[in-house]
Amino acid sequence: MRRIYTGGEVTQCAVRKAVLESCGIACEVRNEGLAQLYGEIPFSQVWPELWVFDDARYEEACAILERSLPSEPEQTVPRPAPGDSDQQKPPVGLRDEEADDAESIRDVLTVAFGRSAEAEAAESLRRRGCVTLALVAAGGPLVVGYALFTPVSLDPPRGVAPWVGLAPLAVLPEYQCFGIGSWLVIRGLDRLRAAGVPGVVVLGNPAFYGRFGFQPASRLGLRSEYDVSDEEFMAQALDPGAPAQPPALVRYQPEFRLL
Ligand SMILES: CC(C)(COP(=O)(O)OP(=O)(O)OC[C@H]1O[C@@H](n2cnc3c(N)ncnc32)[C@H](O)[C@@H]1OP(=O)(O)O)[C@@H](O)C(=O)NCCC(=O)NCCS
Repeated sequence: MRRIYTGGEVTQCAVRKAVLESCGIACEVRNEGLAQLYGEIPFSQVWPELWVFDDARYEEACAILERSLPSEPEQTVPRPAPGDSDQQKPPVGLRDEEADDAESIRDVLTVAFGRSAEAEAAESLRRRGCVTLALVAAGGPLVVGYALFTPVSLDPPRGVAPWVGLAPLAVLPEYQCFGIGSWLVIRGLDRLRAAGVPGVVVLGNPAFYGRFGFQPASRLGLRSEYDVSDEEFMAQALDPGAPAQPPALVRYQPEFRLL
């Protein structure tokens, strides 16, 4: 494996990853510092890296990126956070949700959405065991970000493994715009792809989710059970080689009806 890019923004890595994957070059976004420090890095060093799996394709990957994107010198020095906030903020890393996180997750969701409905939905889904993947961004015991992926049903079904829906996604306001939300999405998609999940749907802002490969769900023949705009209901197939499928209706878990 070889590191091909280190950037100040997770989304810059996501764009490069999408370009390389569309050319058949497997890669992943990760953080060496994160790995070395057992899942925790200083807040000001939440910087992402893009790694190409096959060393033999490294040069080809460099050439593709050079052709497709404006060149940007690799940043070897992590970008500082405004106000050098390491003094006030603990190191942040991504990990799976643990039982002790429940209260912090409730706080993150309630503060980020300005109401308790999302937190209540997440708790009900957890109680019912309707969770495919739950990731937290945490600085020590303090959870600052949360991403929940739950099974959705497709009618008619597409294969045996269920698609999943991403919701809710939230980051505490004082930690927003540092790439943590993007990192939760990218890491979540990588984990789901590795687990054989065929695809993901999300309802949200296309300008944000479009960065991670989501497109209007209608392009994949999917429509929502809810009355939502075509632009905002988005989907992404995690196995791009899967054959075309007939149109299907997507149903979320019942908790989402209340949101
Ligand atoms: C959405 C959210 C999770 C993003 O987390 P984050 O850590 O700030 O995200 P990142 O730092 O990775 O990305 C920030 C970028 O996303 C944009 N962005 C953030 N929230 C957005 C939103 N709701 N709609 C569109 N763009 C948004 C920011 O403007 C910023 O853009 P830039 O990179 O061009 O400057 C966070 O803003 C949040 O918790 N919002 C409240 C809850 C919410 O609305 N959740 C999403 C429901 S679909």
